[in-house]
Amino acid sequence: MDDKEPGILDEQIAYYRARASEYDEWFLRQGRYDRGAEHSRRWFDEVATVEAALGEAAPSGDILELACGTGLWTRHLAAQATHVTAVDASAEVIAINRSRVRSPVVSYVEADLFRWTPPATYDFVFFGFWLSHVPLEQFDAFWTLVKRALRPSAKVFFVDSLAAQEATARDQHWETDGIVERRLNDGQTFRIVKIFHEPPQLAARLATLGWAADIRATPHFFIYGTAVPR
Ligand SMILES: C[S@@+](CC[C@H](N)C(=O)[O-])C[C@H]1O[C@@H](n2cnc3c(N)ncnc32)[C@H](O)[C@@H]1O
Repeated sequence: MDDKEPGILDEQIAYYRARASEYDEWFLRQGRYDRGAEHSRRWFDEVATVEAALGEAAPSGDILELACGTGLWTRHLAAQATHVTAVDASAEVIAINRSRVRSPVVSYVEADLFRWTPPATYDFVFFGFWLSHVPLEQFDAFWTLVKRALRPSAKVFFVDSLAAQEATARDQHWETDGIVERRLNDGQTFRIVKIFHEPPQLAARLATLGWAADIRATPHFFIYGTAVPR
């Protein structure tokens, strides 16, 4: 599929704004994402693996979180940080994040990351389930933005989706990556970008951009890792 479709990045923002109040159902395996107890056990075991890896990466100091969403990861970052700058294009998800995390060390920025430049540098940059929404033709520019945001000796940690049909809603038609259709609980549909990266190919692509990346995968659902400029 072609991910150069005009308006797709605005539609992606509109999707997450409209989905804000039901977003956590995906992460918590509820409603249309409930695929039974065994599936949930595997999912949450793998979430725990990623959370432990994030802990080992030792986020601290001034942290930048890109596409912060409803705070599922912001809460972990806020517990370790001097300060978290949490950026997202959706005021609706920021409001949920704020009420979940309730931390004086977090400040929020409502911005479109494809039109945003970091105003400062940070000790740690995190993005969860965001890289898969960056079109391939924006990939290099996105990582340039990330590099600009880093202080010397800073580190990047990210987590994202592996290509796993079981991770999507039960009524979600499975599509290969590129531009895909996503449905809300009320049946509204939106087109978004979804690129499933695989660890070796992603590490190789990052190496060509001057990054040293340690990228892993959990057995079914997640790709995660750290990256530092070489
Ligand atoms: C899959 S969610 C991930 C949220 C959160 N990081 C997490 O892991 O739970 C993607 C997030 O990207 C945000 N987003 C979509 N397009 C964006 C854009 N152009 N600029 C900034 N944020 C955007 C959405 O509002 C949404 O919160």
